[in-house]
Amino acid sequence: MNKKILVLKGDGIGPEVVNQALKVLDAISQKYNHKFEYTEALIGGVAIDKYGVPLPEETLDMAKASDAVFLGAVGDWKYDKLDPSIRPEKGLLGIRKGLGLFANLRPVKILDELVSSSPLKENLIKGADIMIIRELTGGVYFGEPKGEDTKNGERIAFNTMLYSESEVRRIAKVAFETAMKRNKKVCSVDKANVLDVSRFWREIVTDVAKEYPKVELSHMYVDNAAMQLVIHPKQFDVILTSNLFGDILSDEASVLSGSLGLLPSASLSEGKVGMFEPCHGSAPDFKGLNRLNPIATILSAAMMLKYGFGMEEEAKAVETAVLEILKQGYRTEDIFKNEDEKLVGTSKMGDLIAEQVSKK
Ligand code: IPM
Ligand code: MG
Repeated sequence: MNKKILVLKGDGIGPEVVNQALKVLDAISQKYNHKFEYTEALIGGVAIDKYGVPLPEETLDMAKASDAVFLGAVGDWKYDKLDPSIRPEKGLLGIRKGLGLFANLRPVKILDELVSSSPLKENLIKGADIMIIRELTGGVYFGEPKGEDTKNGERIAFNTMLYSESEVRRIAKVAFETAMKRNKKVCSVDKANVLDVSRFWREIVTDVAKEYPKVELSHMYVDNAAMQLVIHPKQFDVILTSNLFGDILSDEASVLSGSLGLLPSASLSEGKVGMFEPCHGSAPDFKGLNRLNPIATILSAAMMLKYGFGMEEEAKAVETAVLEILKQGYRTEDIFKNEDEKLVGTSKMGDLIAEQVSKK
């Protein structure tokens, strides 16, 4: 197959980790006889530096014309003082909205090899396998009205947590469809004891569930879910939740695996273009140091193969290669635990996984 991939390396350690994933994708294309055409464009801080905006129109147009977008990370402390409308994060939100990427899949799978890296006790975490499905283009991230004003002579600021019925329906469908291919359990997370928008969310999700009688649906308040994730993570299969709650819970869930550097993500639309990126940020303090874990990004490439291109076997080949290299004891410093293991840098980890893919 021939696929056009728009590569957005972004800021901080983005370029380093993306380069490792490209090595792995090259190994896949050789082995399976695919042609991946890469084009690069700017987003985030690097786009601000060059064009004064975090998401140049050209980047969005190129994204729309490609088969998939592969992103590193955006953001750097040096832009913290900019007007919020042109901060690097706006680029990310803009491309999500611009491509209609409403469904964000964040799988948290605890690998047996890395159980000891988890902050939780082995008996709690071993075997946990959770898919967080986060709504990505609605909710309080995008709701209007928002902004600042004055009221009774005092400054105020506000955002709006808003969902339409169609927005809840389509993300709920993604969750139920995903659960059908897994352990057939969906836990919908909300704050229905307080928020109107959550009661509405719960009502719609319950209605969609009728189309999936084989899937067991439960509901949980977000504060409880945050706690349950650390005391009993194995109870979860698919977690369905809104944009803000999903942002928070996915960071929490990701470190259960031992490192944020292991977690990939896929953002999917109703159209053809998906975007694939690691869950972690740009870690500007680590830029250029060759110390970060590229596995989250490499596994995001596997998600691109699977969800973006329907290449199940190729995706599996990448996952298997990652596991094999971990089995052989190679570790980046975020997951390095003891002297029996082999400490390697970002680039070496990329080489090892790419070579492993070519080997098998
Ligand atoms: C994420 C990030 C983003 C978000 C930021 C960088 C805008 O935290 O992808 O989880 O809040 O969605
Ligand atoms: Mg986040």
